[in-house]
Amino acid sequence: MADTRTLAVVTVDDVEAAAPLAWLTDHARARAAAGLRRELRPRGGPDKPGASVLVDLAGNDYLGLGRHPAVVGGGIRALRAWGAGATGSRLMTGTTTLHGELENALAAHAGFASALVFSSGYTANLAVVTALAGPGDLVVSDALNHASIVDACRLSRADVVVTPHADVAAVAAALAGRPWRRALVVTESVFSADGDLAPLTELHEAARAHGAVLVVDEAHALGVVGPAGRGALAATGLAGEPDVVATATLSKALGGQGGAVLGEAAVRDHLIDTARSFIFDTGLAPANVGSALAALEFLGAHPELPGTVRRRARQLAGLTGAPDPAGAVVSVIIGDPEPAIAAATTCRGHGVAVGCFRPPTVPVGTSRLRLAARADLTDADLAIVTNALAAAGVLAR
Ligand SMILES: Cc1ncc(COP(=O)(O)O)c(C=O)c1O
Repeated sequence: MADTRTLAVVTVDDVEAAAPLAWLTDHARARAAAGLRRELRPRGGPDKPGASVLVDLAGNDYLGLGRHPAVVGGGIRALRAWGAGATGSRLMTGTTTLHGELENALAAHAGFASALVFSSGYTANLAVVTALAGPGDLVVSDALNHASIVDACRLSRADVVVTPHADVAAVAAALAGRPWRRALVVTESVFSADGDLAPLTELHEAARAHGAVLVVDEAHALGVVGPAGRGALAATGLAGEPDVVATATLSKALGGQGGAVLGEAAVRDHLIDTARSFIFDTGLAPANVGSALAALEFLGAHPELPGTVRRRARQLAGLTGAPDPAGAVVSVIIGDPEPAIAAATTCRGHGVAVGCFRPPTVPVGTSRLRLAARADLTDADLAIVTNALAAAGVLAR
Protein backbone atom coordinates (compact mmCIF):
# COMPACT_ATOMS: atom_id res chain seq x y z
CA MET A 1 0.00 0.00 0.00
CA ALA A 2 1.27 3.45 -0.90
CA ASP A 3 2.49 5.71 1.82
CA THR A 4 -0.23 8.38 1.88
CA ARG A 5 1.96 10.88 3.67
CA THR A 6 4.41 10.80 0.77
CA LEU A 7 1.55 11.02 -1.75
CA ALA A 8 0.10 14.00 0.04
CA VAL A 9 3.38 15.83 -0.32
CA VAL A 10 3.95 14.94 -3.97
CA THR A 11 0.45 15.54 -5.28
CA VAL A 12 -0.32 18.87 -3.73
CA ASP A 13 -2.68 20.45 -6.26
CA ASP A 14 -2.77 23.81 -4.65
CA VAL A 15 -1.97 26.27 -7.44
CA GLU A 16 -0.54 28.74 -4.96
CA ALA A 17 1.96 26.20 -3.79
CA ALA A 18 3.07 25.66 -7.41
CA ALA A 19 3.13 29.42 -8.11
CA PRO A 20 3.69 31.11 -4.77
CA LEU A 21 4.14 34.50 -6.43
CA ALA A 22 0.85 34.37 -8.38
CA TRP A 23 -0.62 36.94 -6.00
CA LEU A 24 1.72 39.54 -7.46
CA THR A 25 -0.30 39.63 -10.67
CA ASP A 26 -3.54 40.25 -8.75
CA HIS A 27 -1.94 42.99 -6.73
CA ALA A 28 -0.48 44.59 -9.86
CA ARG A 29 -3.97 44.54 -11.43
CA ALA A 30 -5.43 46.20 -8.34
CA ARG A 31 -2.75 48.91 -8.41
CA ALA A 32 -3.40 49.48 -12.12
CA ALA A 33 -7.13 49.88 -11.44
CA ALA A 34 -6.32 52.48 -8.77
CA GLY A 35 -3.90 54.39 -11.03
CA LEU A 36 -0.95 53.36 -8.90
CA ARG A 37 1.29 51.46 -11.34
CA ARG A 38 4.77 52.93 -11.70
CA GLU A 39 6.99 52.87 -14.74
CA LEU A 40 10.74 53.09 -15.22
CA ARG A 41 11.34 55.46 -18.09
CA PRO A 42 14.92 56.13 -19.23
CA ARG A 43 15.48 59.85 -19.45
CA GLY A 44 16.97 61.44 -22.54
CA GLY A 45 20.75 61.29 -22.72
CA PRO A 46 23.61 61.31 -25.18
CA ASP A 47 22.15 58.28 -26.97
CA LYS A 48 18.78 60.04 -27.38
CA PRO A 49 19.67 63.48 -28.68
CA GLY A 50 16.18 64.04 -30.06
CA ALA A 51 14.50 63.38 -26.70
CA SER A 52 11.09 65.01 -26.53
CA VAL A 53 11.62 66.49 -23.07
CA LEU A 54 12.73 70.08 -23.47
CA VAL A 55 12.47 71.18 -19.85
CA ASP A 56 13.08 68.91 -16.86
CA LEU A 57 11.09 69.87 -13.78
CA ALA A 58 10.99 66.29 -12.50
CA GLY A 59 14.56 65.81 -11.30
CA ASN A 60 16.16 67.20 -8.15
CA ASP A 61 19.22 68.70 -9.86
CA TYR A 62 18.11 72.08 -8.49
CA LEU A 63 21.23 74.03 -9.36
CA GLY A 64 21.79 72.31 -12.71
CA LEU A 65 25.17 71.04 -11.47
CA GLY A 66 24.71 67.37 -12.38
CA ARG A 67 26.08 67.85 -15.88
CA HIS A 68 28.19 70.92 -15.25
CA PRO A 69 31.71 70.42 -16.65
CA ALA A 70 33.33 71.47 -13.36
CA VAL A 71 31.31 68.89 -11.41
CA VAL A 72 31.67 66.12 -13.99
CA GLY A 73 35.39 66.94 -14.15
CA GLY A 74 35.73 66.53 -10.39
CA GLY A 75 34.12 63.09 -10.68
CA ILE A 76 36.37 62.04 -13.56
CA ARG A 77 39.55 63.09 -11.75
CA ALA A 78 38.53 61.07 -8.69
CA LEU A 79 37.55 58.09 -10.83
CA ARG A 80 40.96 58.13 -12.53
CA ALA A 81 42.84 58.56 -9.29
CA TRP A 82 40.93 56.10 -7.10
CA GLY A 83 39.11 53.71 -9.41
CA ALA A 84 35.49 52.83 -10.05
CA GLY A 85 34.44 51.77 -6.59
CA ALA A 86 35.20 52.36 -2.95
CA THR A 87 36.43 48.73 -2.81
CA GLY A 88 34.99 48.14 0.66
CA SER A 89 33.13 49.58 3.60
CA ARG A 90 34.38 52.89 5.00
CA LEU A 91 35.93 51.06 7.96
CA MET A 92 37.83 48.61 5.76
CA THR A 93 39.21 50.00 2.50
CA GLY A 94 36.44 52.40 1.46
CA THR A 95 37.80 55.63 2.90
CA THR A 96 40.07 57.78 0.73
CA THR A 97 41.62 61.14 1.56
CA LEU A 98 38.93 62.59 -0.72
CA HIS A 99 36.22 61.34 1.66
CA GLY A 100 37.88 63.31 4.46
CA GLU A 101 38.14 66.40 2.26
CA LEU A 102 34.46 66.17 1.38
CA GLU A 103 33.48 65.74 5.04
CA ASN A 104 35.47 68.82 6.02
CA ALA A 105 34.01 70.83 3.14
CA LEU A 106 30.43 69.78 3.95
CA ALA A 107 30.82 70.57 7.65
CA ALA A 108 32.34 73.98 6.88
CA HIS A 109 29.64 74.76 4.33
CA ALA A 110 26.70 73.84 6.57
CA GLY A 111 28.20 75.26 9.78
CA PHE A 112 28.75 72.06 11.77
CA ALA A 113 31.80 70.77 13.62
CA SER A 114 31.97 67.56 11.62
CA ALA A 115 30.38 65.47 8.90
CA LEU A 116 30.27 61.81 7.96
CA VAL A 117 29.64 60.80 4.36
CA PHE A 118 27.33 57.90 3.46
CA SER A 119 26.50 56.07 0.24
CA SER A 120 23.10 57.81 0.17
CA GLY A 121 20.83 60.17 2.06
CA TYR A 122 18.66 57.15 2.80
CA THR A 123 21.44 55.33 4.66
CA ALA A 124 22.41 58.59 6.42
CA ASN A 125 18.88 58.88 7.82
CA LEU A 126 18.84 55.21 8.82
CA ALA A 127 22.15 55.72 10.62
CA VAL A 128 21.35 58.79 12.62
CA VAL A 129 17.98 57.69 13.98
CA THR A 130 18.96 54.09 14.72
CA ALA A 131 22.27 55.06 16.33
CA LEU A 132 20.84 57.84 18.49
CA ALA A 133 17.64 56.09 19.61
CA GLY A 134 16.77 52.56 20.62
CA PRO A 135 14.43 50.59 22.84
CA GLY A 136 13.24 52.74 25.75
CA ASP A 137 13.82 55.96 23.80
CA LEU A 138 11.29 58.22 22.10
CA VAL A 139 11.32 59.44 18.51
CA VAL A 140 8.85 62.17 17.59
CA SER A 141 8.45 62.21 13.81
CA ASP A 142 6.50 64.59 11.55
CA ALA A 143 3.64 62.90 9.69
CA LEU A 144 5.02 64.02 6.33
CA ASN A 145 8.61 62.90 6.89
CA HIS A 146 10.34 61.10 4.03
CA ALA A 147 10.12 57.30 3.79
CA SER A 148 13.78 56.98 4.78
CA ILE A 149 12.98 58.64 8.13
CA VAL A 150 9.88 56.48 8.57
CA ASP A 151 12.00 53.38 7.97
CA ALA A 152 14.70 54.69 10.30
CA CYS A 153 12.11 55.14 13.06
CA ARG A 154 10.86 51.58 12.56
CA LEU A 155 14.38 50.14 12.58
CA SER A 156 15.34 52.03 15.73
CA ARG A 157 12.89 50.01 17.88
CA ALA A 158 12.30 53.18 19.88
CA ASP A 159 8.78 54.31 20.80
CA VAL A 160 7.70 56.41 17.83
CA VAL A 161 5.07 59.14 18.04
CA VAL A 162 4.02 60.55 14.67
CA THR A 163 2.80 64.11 15.09
CA PRO A 164 0.61 66.09 12.66
CA HIS A 165 2.61 68.01 10.09
CA ALA A 166 4.51 71.02 11.49
CA ASP A 167 2.55 70.86 14.75
CA VAL A 168 4.93 72.16 17.43
CA ALA A 169 2.36 71.85 20.23
CA ALA A 170 1.89 68.17 19.36
CA VAL A 171 5.67 67.66 19.45
CA ALA A 172 5.88 69.30 22.89
CA ALA A 173 2.95 67.19 24.12
CA ALA A 174 4.58 64.00 22.82
CA LEU A 175 7.82 64.84 24.64
CA ALA A 176 5.92 65.61 27.84
CA GLY A 177 3.50 62.72 27.53
CA ARG A 178 5.55 59.70 28.51
CA PRO A 179 8.71 58.68 30.29
CA TRP A 180 11.75 58.15 28.08
CA ARG A 181 15.48 57.79 28.44
CA ARG A 182 16.53 59.82 25.42
CA ALA A 183 14.40 61.52 22.76
CA LEU A 184 14.76 62.73 19.19
CA VAL A 185 12.53 65.13 17.30
CA VAL A 186 12.90 64.36 13.60
CA THR A 187 11.79 66.57 10.73
CA GLU A 188 12.70 67.57 7.22
CA SER A 189 13.56 71.25 6.85
CA VAL A 190 12.14 71.80 3.36
CA PHE A 191 9.58 69.04 2.89
CA SER A 192 10.21 66.90 -0.14
CA ALA A 193 6.64 66.67 -1.43
CA ASP A 194 4.97 69.89 -0.25
CA GLY A 195 8.00 72.17 -0.44
CA ASP A 196 7.15 74.02 2.80
CA LEU A 197 9.59 74.83 5.61
CA ALA A 198 9.39 73.20 9.04
CA PRO A 199 9.09 75.57 12.04
CA LEU A 200 12.69 74.83 12.98
CA THR A 201 13.17 77.50 15.66
CA GLU A 202 10.02 76.47 17.51
CA LEU A 203 10.79 72.76 17.16
CA HIS A 204 14.25 73.37 18.57
CA GLU A 205 12.80 75.31 21.51
CA ALA A 206 10.40 72.45 22.24
CA ALA A 207 13.15 69.85 21.91
CA ARG A 208 15.58 71.81 24.10
CA ALA A 209 12.95 72.46 26.77
CA HIS A 210 12.63 68.69 27.17
CA GLY A 211 16.27 67.74 26.70
CA ALA A 212 15.63 66.13 23.31
CA VAL A 213 17.83 66.27 20.21
CA LEU A 214 16.52 67.89 17.03
CA VAL A 215 17.37 65.89 13.88
CA VAL A 216 16.77 67.78 10.64
CA ASP A 217 16.89 66.31 7.15
CA GLU A 218 18.26 69.06 4.91
CA ALA A 219 17.94 67.03 1.70
CA HIS A 220 15.92 69.73 -0.08
CA ALA A 221 17.52 72.72 1.64
CA LEU A 222 21.26 72.19 1.22
CA GLY A 223 22.35 74.27 -1.77
CA VAL A 224 18.95 75.92 -2.00
CA VAL A 225 18.06 77.62 1.31
CA GLY A 226 20.10 80.00 3.44
CA PRO A 227 23.05 82.20 2.60
CA ALA A 228 24.99 80.59 -0.28
CA GLY A 229 22.79 77.51 0.11
CA ARG A 230 24.17 76.61 3.53
CA GLY A 231 20.81 75.10 4.49
CA ALA A 232 17.79 76.00 6.59
CA LEU A 233 19.58 75.32 9.87
CA ALA A 234 22.28 77.85 9.00
CA ALA A 235 19.58 80.30 7.96
CA THR A 236 17.86 79.99 11.35
CA GLY A 237 21.10 80.09 13.36
CA LEU A 238 20.72 76.49 14.53
CA ALA A 239 23.61 74.94 12.63
CA GLY A 240 26.30 73.80 15.02
CA GLU A 241 24.10 73.83 18.13
CA PRO A 242 25.11 70.92 20.36
CA ASP A 243 21.60 69.45 20.40
CA VAL A 244 21.05 69.64 16.64
CA VAL A 245 22.04 66.98 14.11
CA ALA A 246 21.48 67.33 10.35
CA THR A 247 21.34 64.88 7.50
CA ALA A 248 21.77 65.76 3.84
CA THR A 249 21.93 64.19 0.44
CA LEU A 250 24.49 64.86 -2.27
CA SER A 251 21.97 63.77 -4.88
CA LYS A 252 19.85 66.89 -5.21
CA ALA A 253 21.31 70.42 -5.32
CA LEU A 254 24.86 69.04 -5.46
CA GLY A 255 23.89 67.07 -8.56
CA GLY A 256 25.57 63.77 -7.63
CA GLN A 257 24.99 60.85 -5.32
CA GLY A 258 25.54 60.13 -1.63
CA GLY A 259 24.52 61.37 1.78
CA ALA A 260 25.90 62.87 4.96
CA VAL A 261 25.27 63.37 8.67
CA LEU A 262 26.42 66.65 10.23
CA GLY A 263 26.88 67.33 13.92
CA GLU A 264 29.25 67.35 16.86
CA ALA A 265 32.44 65.27 16.55
CA ALA A 266 31.03 62.92 19.21
CA VAL A 267 28.04 62.20 16.95
CA ARG A 268 30.37 61.35 14.07
CA ASP A 269 32.44 59.07 16.29
CA HIS A 270 29.32 57.33 17.59
CA LEU A 271 28.02 56.70 14.07
CA ILE A 272 31.37 55.30 12.91
CA ASP A 273 31.35 52.87 15.81
CA THR A 274 27.70 51.87 15.85
CA ALA A 275 25.60 52.82 12.81
CA ARG A 276 24.83 49.66 10.87
CA SER A 277 24.05 51.45 7.60
CA PHE A 278 27.54 52.97 7.80
CA ILE A 279 29.47 49.93 8.98
CA PHE A 280 27.90 47.33 6.69
CA ASP A 281 27.68 49.36 3.49
CA THR A 282 30.31 49.91 0.81
CA GLY A 283 31.67 53.44 1.02
CA LEU A 284 30.61 56.17 -1.37
CA ALA A 285 32.37 55.70 -4.73
CA PRO A 286 35.32 58.07 -5.32
CA ALA A 287 33.71 59.58 -8.42
CA ASN A 288 30.71 60.65 -6.32
CA VAL A 289 33.01 62.09 -3.69
CA GLY A 290 34.99 64.03 -6.28
CA SER A 291 31.93 65.44 -8.01
CA ALA A 292 30.36 66.48 -4.68
CA LEU A 293 33.55 68.28 -3.73
CA ALA A 294 33.57 70.05 -7.09
CA ALA A 295 29.89 70.96 -6.70
CA LEU A 296 30.52 72.48 -3.26
CA GLU A 297 33.45 74.43 -4.66
CA PHE A 298 31.34 75.66 -7.58
CA LEU A 299 28.57 76.68 -5.17
CA GLY A 300 31.10 78.58 -3.07
CA ALA A 301 32.18 80.50 -6.18
CA HIS A 302 28.56 81.13 -7.24
CA PRO A 303 26.67 81.97 -4.05
CA GLU A 304 23.90 83.55 -6.12
CA LEU A 305 22.68 80.17 -7.46
CA PRO A 306 20.38 79.31 -4.49
CA GLY A 307 18.62 82.68 -4.81
CA THR A 308 18.16 82.07 -8.54
CA VAL A 309 16.51 78.68 -8.05
CA ARG A 310 14.22 80.06 -5.32
CA ARG A 311 13.15 82.90 -7.64
CA ARG A 312 12.37 80.41 -10.41
CA ALA A 313 10.40 78.30 -7.92
CA ARG A 314 8.30 81.32 -6.94
CA GLN A 315 7.61 81.93 -10.63
CA LEU A 316 6.42 78.33 -11.05
CA ALA A 317 4.21 78.69 -7.97
CA GLY A 318 2.79 81.90 -9.40
CA LEU A 319 1.93 80.13 -12.66
CA THR A 320 0.02 77.36 -10.89
CA GLY A 321 -1.39 79.18 -7.87
CA ALA A 322 0.59 76.87 -5.57
CA PRO A 323 1.69 78.22 -2.17
CA ASP A 324 4.95 80.16 -2.10
CA PRO A 325 7.73 77.56 -1.86
CA ALA A 326 10.51 77.63 0.73
CA GLY A 327 13.01 76.12 -1.68
CA ALA A 328 12.85 74.64 -5.16
CA VAL A 329 9.83 72.35 -4.76
CA VAL A 330 6.41 73.46 -5.99
CA SER A 331 3.49 71.21 -5.24
CA VAL A 332 0.34 71.39 -7.39
CA ILE A 333 -2.32 69.27 -5.69
CA ILE A 334 -4.71 67.52 -8.08
CA GLY A 335 -6.46 64.95 -5.84
CA ASP A 336 -6.96 61.52 -7.37
CA PRO A 337 -4.11 59.61 -9.05
CA GLU A 338 -5.67 59.32 -12.53
CA PRO A 339 -6.11 63.06 -13.24
CA ALA A 340 -2.64 63.65 -11.79
CA ILE A 341 -1.19 61.11 -14.23
CA ALA A 342 -3.19 62.65 -17.08
CA ALA A 343 -1.86 66.14 -16.26
CA ALA A 344 1.73 64.86 -16.04
CA THR A 345 1.32 63.02 -19.36
CA THR A 346 0.00 66.16 -21.02
CA CYS A 347 2.96 68.16 -19.70
CA ARG A 348 5.34 65.55 -21.08
CA GLY A 349 3.53 65.68 -24.43
CA HIS A 350 4.29 69.40 -24.44
CA GLY A 351 7.98 68.87 -23.71
CA VAL A 352 7.99 69.30 -19.93
CA ALA A 353 8.83 66.50 -17.51
CA VAL A 354 7.14 66.94 -14.14
CA GLY A 355 6.97 64.73 -11.09
CA CYS A 356 3.69 62.94 -10.44
CA PHE A 357 3.42 61.99 -6.77
CA ARG A 358 0.71 59.52 -5.74
CA PRO A 359 0.05 57.40 -2.66
CA PRO A 360 1.91 55.97 -0.84
CA THR A 361 4.43 58.75 -1.52
CA VAL A 362 1.79 61.31 -0.50
CA PRO A 363 -1.46 60.92 1.51
CA VAL A 364 -4.56 59.59 -0.27
CA GLY A 365 -6.49 62.38 -2.01
CA THR A 366 -3.39 64.55 -2.49
CA SER A 367 -1.93 63.17 -5.72
CA ARG A 368 -0.09 65.99 -7.34
CA LEU A 369 2.29 67.40 -9.85
CA ARG A 370 5.66 68.17 -8.29
CA LEU A 371 7.56 70.85 -10.12
CA ALA A 372 11.22 71.18 -9.18
CA ALA A 373 12.69 74.52 -10.15
CA ARG A 374 16.24 74.70 -11.47
CA ALA A 375 18.70 77.55 -11.36
CA ASP A 376 19.44 77.08 -15.06
CA LEU A 377 15.85 77.60 -16.25
CA THR A 378 15.66 80.31 -18.88
CA ASP A 379 12.76 82.61 -19.74
CA ALA A 380 12.33 80.56 -22.93
CA ASP A 381 12.03 77.41 -20.77
CA LEU A 382 9.38 79.12 -18.66
CA ALA A 383 7.38 79.94 -21.79
CA ILE A 384 7.42 76.21 -22.70
CA VAL A 385 6.39 75.35 -19.13
CA THR A 386 3.55 77.87 -19.19
CA ASN A 387 2.24 76.36 -22.41
CA ALA A 388 2.44 72.83 -21.00
CA LEU A 389 0.74 73.73 -17.71
CA ALA A 390 -2.04 75.47 -19.63
CA ALA A 391 -2.59 72.36 -21.76
CA ALA A 392 -2.69 70.27 -18.58
CA GLY A 393 -5.31 72.58 -17.09
CA VAL A 394 -3.24 73.61 -14.07
CA LEU A 395 -2.39 77.18 -15.00
CA ALA A 396 -3.73 79.64 -12.42
CA ARG A 397 -6.39 81.93 -13.82
C1 LIG B 1 13.78 64.30 2.40
C2 LIG B 1 14.63 63.24 1.83
N1 LIG B 1 15.47 62.59 2.64
C3 LIG B 1 16.28 61.61 2.19
C4 LIG B 1 16.25 61.23 0.88
C5 LIG B 1 17.13 60.11 0.43
O1 LIG B 1 18.27 60.62 -0.19
P1 LIG B 1 19.05 59.73 -1.26
O2 LIG B 1 18.25 59.78 -2.51
O3 LIG B 1 20.38 60.38 -1.36
O4 LIG B 1 19.11 58.36 -0.71
C6 LIG B 1 15.41 61.89 -0.01
C7 LIG B 1 15.43 61.49 -1.43
O5 LIG B 1 14.54 61.41 -2.14
C8 LIG B 1 14.57 62.91 0.48
O6 LIG B 1 13.71 63.52 -0.32
